[in-house]
Amino acid sequence: MRETAPDRTMVTSVGRELPPTGFSMPDFEAFFQKIRHQRETFFTSLQGVEPVLKGVSKVLQPAAATVALGHLEGRVVDVSGLSVTIAGLCEFTAVGDHVAIHSVDGRQITAEIVAFKRELAIAMSYEPIAGIGAGCPVIFSLHAPKQRQRQAGGVLEVNESWIGRVVDPMGQPLDGQGPLLPGGGMQRRHAQPPLATKRARLGGRIDLGIKAMNLFTTCRQGQRLGLFAGSGVGKSTLMGMLARETACDVAVISLVGERGREVRDFIEDDLGPAGLAKSVLVVATSDSSALMRREAAYSAMAIAEYYRDQGKSVLLLMDSVTRFCQALREIGLSSGEVPATRGYPPGVFATLPRLLERAGPGKVQKGGKAGQITAVFSVLVEGDDQNEPVADAVRGILDGHVVLEREIAEAGRYPAISVLQSLSRSVPGCNSAEENELVMQARHLLAVWEDVRDLVRLGAYKPGGDRAADRAVRLGPQLEKFLTQAKNEAVTIEDSFAGLAQLLEQDDEHEDNWV
Ligand SMILES: Nc1ncnc2c1ncn2[C@@H]1O[C@H](COP(=O)(O)OP(=O)(O)O)[C@@H](O)[C@H]1O
Ligand SMILES: [Mg+2]
Repeated sequence: MRETAPDRTMVTSVGRELPPTGFSMPDFEAFFQKIRHQRETFFTSLQGVEPVLKGVSKVLQPAAATVALGHLEGRVVDVSGLSVTIAGLCEFTAVGDHVAIHSVDGRQITAEIVAFKRELAIAMSYEPIAGIGAGCPVIFSLHAPKQRQRQAGGVLEVNESWIGRVVDPMGQPLDGQGPLLPGGGMQRRHAQPPLATKRARLGGRIDLGIKAMNLFTTCRQGQRLGLFAGSGVGKSTLMGMLARETACDVAVISLVGERGREVRDFIEDDLGPAGLAKSVLVVATSDSSALMRREAAYSAMAIAEYYRDQGKSVLLLMDSVTRFCQALREIGLSSGEVPATRGYPPGVFATLPRLLERAGPGKVQKGGKAGQITAVFSVLVEGDDQNEPVADAVRGILDGHVVLEREIAEAGRYPAISVLQSLSRSVPGCNSAEENELVMQARHLLAVWEDVRDLVRLGAYKPGGDRAADRAVRLGPQLEKFLTQAKNEAVTIEDSFAGLAQLLEQDDEHEDNWV
């Protein structure tokens, strides 16, 4: 052991020998040459430590592995905008590694390496960067390779007691209800989606408790829907209703970049005690760093995966994917990516599917069962522009979309779902033939009503010319009224179809008399 353990003094000395201030290129080159040599010696000595760690008893292994094998010290050479440039660590670190920057006011600020430029590492901080200056020491704790893989990107120790709690993206409680109980699954925040070929298929349809969605965007267990809406159109209210009323075991709600006031409003008014009791909330408000906002989405996904792997039916609600993409944009631009579509660097659209793909059915477990993450991702369509790049990308990845329209909200019909613009790609496969017939009739009726409603309003509509139009004029307003649903009302999928059938049949009788 004595012969094989890493020489910590030597490792620490790597960082101590920083290039002198007032650098010149030859200084750098000599400096990095030296590091390169020491790095090789270091990794050779590491190989001896691995078997030692393996020999530690199973109980002690996690604890032993979290002990850093050595600490490397680099130095801040540049701070600009949101990014910090660090010298002295590039040979040892990789993108995604966490480092601790010692600020001039004595704080230890966690930062993540997001890019490298030549031999300098570019990092972004999880906290405000005030207090970080050129020359500040930066510490990187080196762990055994397996543990290091876990540390990069981070893990959450999720367990059952998280249900009913509000946490930040690092898994720290935000609700003043005391610490979270330790133990449970080690969930990687940046996990990979299950292998496509090993994944279960979509399950049976899931009761969302919302009439308009149950009928027109019928959703199956493990399906992923987008909720497209401008601000103030009723997104948060609808998300709260979904969390309360959906027939699921647990709801995981991620609030990314909301204003602080909105978070409390959401928890108390939209979700309510009944909703909170079966939910885990992950919150990063708009004033938190871009990394924190990004992690709010990843952490929620990791928590949902934990419950899914226990065979549970999980509902994941993310408000909003747009803010997640905006956080990625900030990170991308700070690390030197080039802005493309509306300022979003291309990396954003490569990262987005990797997040969204993680929702869905889990791996088939023994006995043929699988947990599911049924997900609703909200997308902000500012200026009600449905072709905004994030909206476009999300629409292409998901299995359906629900569009909330400002005009409908203004007319007082909530939830303001535009039936004609919304669709679920798993329908009609999950409904009976009669149900599909009902849905088709209702869609057709709403489409005709859309065409003639202005004429009716102006008093220019003359009945008797077209039977379909006449029926739409009779039934359109009734159908719209039927789709209205109060905030605290729940309607099951069976009742939704029964109500629609009754409404349409009533008019069939009317037609028979009329003919
Ligand atoms: N189902 C509903 N019933 C009645 N009013 C609603 C309903 N949904 C939304 N609203 C109204 O719309 C307003 C804005 O809703 P909110 O969910 O905060 O929108 P967003 O999250 O899109 O900004 C609410 O204050 C409320 O008055
Ligand atoms: Mg809102």
